[in-house]
Amino acid sequence: MRGIDTAYNYRGFTSHRALARVAADLLGEFTLSTKVGYFPDDSGERSVHSLDPARLRDAIRRSVDDLGRSPDVVFLHNPELALSARSGTEGRDRLADACGVLADEAAAGWCGTWGIATWDARPVAAAIEQGVAGIQPGALLLRAGLSVAHPILTAGETLTRMLKVPPERCWGMSPFSGSTADPVWNAVDLRAFLADQQQCTTPQVAFRLAYELPPVARVAVGTSNVDHLRDLCAATQLAISGTAIHRYRDLITG
Ligand SMILES: NC(=O)c1ccc[n+]([C@@H]2O[C@H](COP(=O)([O-])OP(=O)(O)OC[C@H]3O[C@@H](n4cnc5c(N)ncnc54)[C@H](OP(=O)(O)O)[C@@H]3O)[C@@H](O)[C@H]2O)c1
Repeated sequence: MRGIDTAYNYRGFTSHRALARVAADLLGEFTLSTKVGYFPDDSGERSVHSLDPARLRDAIRRSVDDLGRSPDVVFLHNPELALSARSGTEGRDRLADACGVLADEAAAGWCGTWGIATWDARPVAAAIEQGVAGIQPGALLLRAGLSVAHPILTAGETLTRMLKVPPERCWGMSPFSGSTADPVWNAVDLRAFLADQQQCTTPQVAFRLAYELPPVARVAVGTSNVDHLRDLCAATQLAISGTAIHRYRDLITG
């Protein structure tokens, strides 16, 4: 585990300060990624989504202050939320402006690079299809794993192709879709995905599969349990059957 992924709005907008307070001496040892796109509303109690350029810029600079260092990556957080209700060209222009802010901030040294984090890549891919030229993110963060429905999985892959982001710079997220308490994780037997007989748990196989669906180089996963973290690190070594992945993709396509 070499990276920490967080966001401007996590923990009620306190996660950056909490990281700096708890682990300032360790943060330099990790790749640090964060996300901007959610802001406190006027009451300060709820978060609202926005691609407003001034707010994005302010959030990036405030993140650097709060973290005590510049993040390695700043992702535009779920831009689809500001795109789906807009016409094609309006959405395209909003996206281009927001990406432009992140690219400028990266060029000015406020972060190492910038990217797009999307829970549902369909509106983002549709906006880019309208002809947003010159958007060159350094990374993409996409939903990954068995819980991702086929349309969202393929839209993420389409986006990676359109933006020419290779798998080494694609990251996956939320391999359990937020929780392993869902009864489905007890009901499934994932051993058919393994290349050979290996000792492992269902969450381990599910986590390992998140590197394949879609192909990504890193997976952002949440855990508050050190044994779980150990299991996840060990799971990265599991050998997966390419044939089983192909069969699975055929099944979910139908
Ligand atoms: N863009 C977005 O809208 C969005 C939304 C959600 C998440 N994300 C991204 O995805 C990342 C992770 O998401 P997430 O934390 O919501 O969901 P997740 O990683 O899919 O699932 C986290 C859950 O899995 C459990 N878990 C982890 N390892 C386990 C293991 N080995 N055995 C059993 N249970 C295990 C954790 O419980 P324990 O704590 O008990 O281990 C926790 O409840 C976030 O950091 C963020 O980057 C993005």
